[in-house]
Parts: sequence; structure tokens; C-alpha cells
Amino acid sequence: MKPVIRIGIVGLGGFAASHHQAIARLEERGHARLVCTCDPDPDRYAGEQANLRFAARGVQVFRDYRAMLDACHRQLDLVVIPTPIQLHADMHAEATALGLPTYLEKPPTLDYAELERMIQADARASHASHVGFNFIIEKRRLALKERLLGGEFGAVRGATLGALWPRPASYFARNDWAGRLFVGEHPVLDSCFGNAMAHFVHNLLFWMGGPELFSWAQIAAVRAELYRAHAIEGADTFFVEADTASGVTLRFAVSHACAGPSSHCEIVLCDKAALRYTVGGSLEIRWNDGRIEKSLLEPFDALQENHLEYFRYLRGESPRPATTLADCRPFVALNDLAYISSGRIAPIPASQVSGVRDEKEQKDYLQVTSMQAMHENFLSRGVWPGSSGWDKEPGEVVTLADLPRFHGIIRAIAGGQPDT
Ligand SMILES: NC(=O)c1ccc[n+]([C@@H]2O[C@H](COP(=O)([O-])OP(=O)(O)OC[C@H]3O[C@@H](n4cnc5c(N)ncnc54)[C@H](O)[C@@H]3O)[C@@H](O)[C@H]2O)c1
Repeated sequence: MKPVIRIGIVGLGGFAASHHQAIARLEERGHARLVCTCDPDPDRYAGEQANLRFAARGVQVFRDYRAMLDACHRQLDLVVIPTPIQLHADMHAEATALGLPTYLEKPPTLDYAELERMIQADARASHASHVGFNFIIEKRRLALKERLLGGEFGAVRGATLGALWPRPASYFARNDWAGRLFVGEHPVLDSCFGNAMAHFVHNLLFWMGGPELFSWAQIAAVRAELYRAHAIEGADTFFVEADTASGVTLRFAVSHACAGPSSHCEIVLCDKAALRYTVGGSLEIRWNDGRIEKSLLEPFDALQENHLEYFRYLRGESPRPATTLADCRPFVALNDLAYISSGRIAPIPASQVSGVRDEKEQKDYLQVTSMQAMHENFLSRGVWPGSSGWDKEPGEVVTLADLPRFHGIIRAIAGGQPDT
């Protein structure tokens, strides 16, 4: 019988509730045991605690994560941190100071300097923390990356991510950090690129990494244009181009300013074939000689599978977590350089934006007339929206050497002031 992993989860609501359900199922299967949890207002979740049978399972409930760690750290193998982005670093620091590794929800932070502090703090834990980018461990993804690295598709020439995930106005009002650049003095940078669709951005960087399987592209230069249609502090629409250190150009077009069905697709362009990977959908390999291999991707319980994979590492059965904090450097740097390059968040011209009421959902969306065309033109031809009707100056070409400008730039963007 494998050792049961003893767990503390910080939080009871939001995505923490999904971790509770996943761990409860893994507890039934004999893999895990929830020792403790905490929430600033646990009484609000009395119904959930009853449904999850906390009393019968002997789960201790605290109001503060520090009190929880203080009381329970000797009974724990792992702390799960699925809380607002701006709280991650402090919570991770408290757990790792006690030697405990964490399952930290993505993004670990969106501030490159804070990420470096977290990487240092992580070295104090008994094991490396896992960052919960859901899709790196998909078996089909790993098998395809092996084929890419093996050279079957020829040299990689480029890659694109197109992703449109509609979000209603209520999404940005659901908590005190949605769509924000800062909460108090703390950079949050919540956005479609840095948070909701961060999985796909990190996935694209994963396809470009080598020569090891678990490796991500190294960023050399970035250009970006950031926009907003919603009345938020941050951006809801990103157009980003990145050159990797190996000389490949990646393009990302990602937005929440849309209505109708969601869409997302990771495309890797190689000498012999184009690979189209749609999470939750299909994998299509279009060979230049006309052959098309198409297959559906199996349903995937991301949370249970990521926990099980991390348990294997904690038990010494696998050599590393799927994504460590250090593996997040390219993603966090890319996000930060996008802000530096763009210099400001431009409004999408009002003439392009209209409201759409979804009567079934009883929610209000925004639709941008030219969004689809801007995505296609940018991803296929490198045409920037700013030069084709959205009226924004081009993004500056920036490199990792520009990262020290990041804090000044985002403060200026939040204050509406130009900053160099
Ligand atoms: N992997 C995924 O698919 C996925 C999906 C959704 C969210 N997330 C990530 O999960 C994290 C949380 O997002 P969310 O939308 O659930 O946020 P949220 O604002 O709803 O907060 C989640 C929970 O954190 C807890 N919390 C807040 N402050 C706390 C404190 N001081 N002490 C202890 N607990 C506290 C509360 O229980 C709260 O309900 C983010 O990093 C987000 O990106 C990941």
C-alpha cells in the first residue's frame, strides 16, 4: 500500500472548493487524507463542510492559514494554495519555511522579481513545489512533444495561440482582484493572458522547449499590444509576439472581450507538418504531403490527475513535478515584457464594441466587431491591430534586460501616466 499523502488546503471557496472535491475523491480511493483547511470566513461554507463530511473525516478548520500551519505542520506532507494571486507568495513562504512543499495554483505570481523570491524560498522545502498548470501532464501532449523532439515533424518554424474566452461583466466583479493590476501595493496583473488562459500560454512555451521533455522556450525578444473593452483597470485583450532564444517566433492572440462560444487552439508549425492541439477537443496533424491525422483528446480530470502526478513525485516515484516554480520563468517574463512593450493599455475603439445580453445565462457580454479578423490577421500574417484600425502605437521591442522597468511601467499604466 502506498503512503497516504497528508494535505492541508488553504481556502474553502472559489477554486479551492474544486481542490476540496478532488481531494475528497482521492481520499476515497486511498491516495490522500485532508488533515486541515482554513478560510477567513469558514461559517460561510457550512453547507460545503457538511457535504464534504469534514466532521466524520476529522478535518480541522481554521480561520487563518498561519494558525493552521502552526497547529498542523507536523501532520502534513503538502499544502495546497488555490487562493487569489496576490496571496500566493506569502502563503508559499510560510509553508516552505516549515519545510512543506506546496501545490500552488497557477499563476504562481505575475511579477518576475517575486517569482525569484519564491524560487529561493522553495529550496527550503523537502520537495519542489508544483505549479498547477493543468495540461502539461496530458499523456497525448507528452507523447506529441517526444515526437517533436525526436524530429519526426522536421524543424519547428513557429507557433501560435488563438484563444477567445467570453467573460461577462459580472466576471470582473466577482472578487476584489479580478481584472486588477494592483491590490493595494501588490501587483496582481489579473488578465486573460496571465490568469484565465495562462494554461495555454504556458503550453505553447512548453512545445517550444528542449532538448528535455520538461522544458520551456527561452524568451529573447517580445513585442505586444494590450487593449481593454471592459471597464477594468487591466487588459482584457492581448496581442503578443515573442522570439525565442532558438530563433522561432511565437504569436499569441488572447481575449475576454467577445461573446458566443469559447475557442482556443495551440498550433505548432514545423517543416513537415502543422500540429493543431485543442485542449478538451482534438489533436490534428496536417502533413505537408496532404495526410491528416485527427484524433479526439480523451476526457481529463485535471485536478485529480495533477494531484496524483504530484503525489508520485512526493513518494519518490517520479523525478520532478510537472511544472516547478523555476519552469514558470519564461511564462512570467513573457507576461511582464508584454506590459513593458505595450507601455499602456489602449481602449478598443468604442465604435467596435457593442453589448450582448445572454438571456439564458442572464449575463451581459461585450462583442468587438473586428476581433475575429484581428486575431486571424495577427496570427497568420503578423498584422498588428494598432496598425489596422485599433489606433495604438506599435509595441517596443523588449528583451529580458528590460525587466527591471516592469514595476515602474505597471505603476504608470495603473496611474494612467506614461513611463519609460
Ligand atoms: N487550474 C485551474 O483551472 C484554475 C481555475 C480557476 C482558478 N484557478 C486559480 O485558483 C486561484 C484562486 O482563484 P479563485 O478564482 O478561486 O479566487 P477567489 O478569490 O475565489 O479565492 C479562492 C478562495 O481563496 C480563499 N482565501 C481568500 N483569502 C484567503 C485568506 N486570506 N486565507 C485563506 N484563504 C483565503 C477563500 O476560500 C476563497 O474562496 C487563482 O490562482 C486562480 O488563477 C485555477
